[in-house]
Amino acid sequence: MIQASLVRTARDFRRACQEARQAGTLALVPTMGFLHAGHQSLIREGAKRAKTVAATVFVNPMQFGPAEDLSRYPSDLDGDLRKCAEAGASLVFAPEGPGEMYPAGYQTYIEPGALAGPLDGERRPGHFRGVCTVVAKLFALSRADCALFGEKDYQQLAVIRRMAADLDLGTEVIGRPIVREPDGLALSSRNSYLSAEERSKAVALWNALGAARAAFAAGERSGQQIVGAARAALDGLRIDYCDLRDPVELLPLEQRADPTSRLFLAAFVGKTRLIDNGALGEAG
Ligand code: PAF
Repeated sequence: MIQASLVRTARDFRRACQEARQAGTLALVPTMGFLHAGHQSLIREGAKRAKTVAATVFVNPMQFGPAEDLSRYPSDLDGDLRKCAEAGASLVFAPEGPGEMYPAGYQTYIEPGALAGPLDGERRPGHFRGVCTVVAKLFALSRADCALFGEKDYQQLAVIRRMAADLDLGTEVIGRPIVREPDGLALSSRNSYLSAEERSKAVALWNALGAARAAFAAGERSGQQIVGAARAALDGLRIDYCDLRDPVELLPLEQRADPTSRLFLAAFVGKTRLIDNGALGEAG
């Protein structure tokens, strides 16, 4: 197993990435740490596409709202370094603190457009502005050939892809499928907040996707009916949103549903907010 080398400053990260690019191609996997098999699948895919994989571990305060879980976000840098190395990342950038990314006097932000409007953009004001700002900085520091993101955060992936194209950032944005537990729950660092009882309830998100897909497979094409089936399966959870949208512009579905129409879910299991999504025509 390779050893991942850890850098703690933006300057060292820039230099290490420059060296990696001189030796070949570079893939970037941005994370907020507390890595799981989903992150590792991104690193493994990065290792197939580039000579060097750099992972970043930074809980970005700019993307958290005042009432969100910034202060209790889980962390385990030693475990992350081990998991990065195991999956094939030879470089890890874990900034020493927020000041390394946003030094005193920082005042420049990336404001995403319409894709960041609905769903999480509406429920978490400023969230995607914070995501875009940190990801643009990581792209600028690394100048990576490609960067990999999971489809669990499908809207984030769409917003970042748009940003990279609009700003000619020169890093190819690659989306990868959701990695799930055997019972269907999408892997997330936030699953670690769940008690045993909450964990068993959390599978309702997967069941809701299944209910929507079953309705579609049975011939239902009305968005309202399909969403109704998903909502019924979320019974017992506090639903934040349950929406059927087109997969490109993320606009609400006005026509009949088709196999690419995507169900977007956010629900609270106890105090923990979980998200999931999937296309109606995907196997579930
Ligand atoms: O998906 C995440 O973990 C974060 O939003 C990201 C992309 C690392 C930016 O902080």
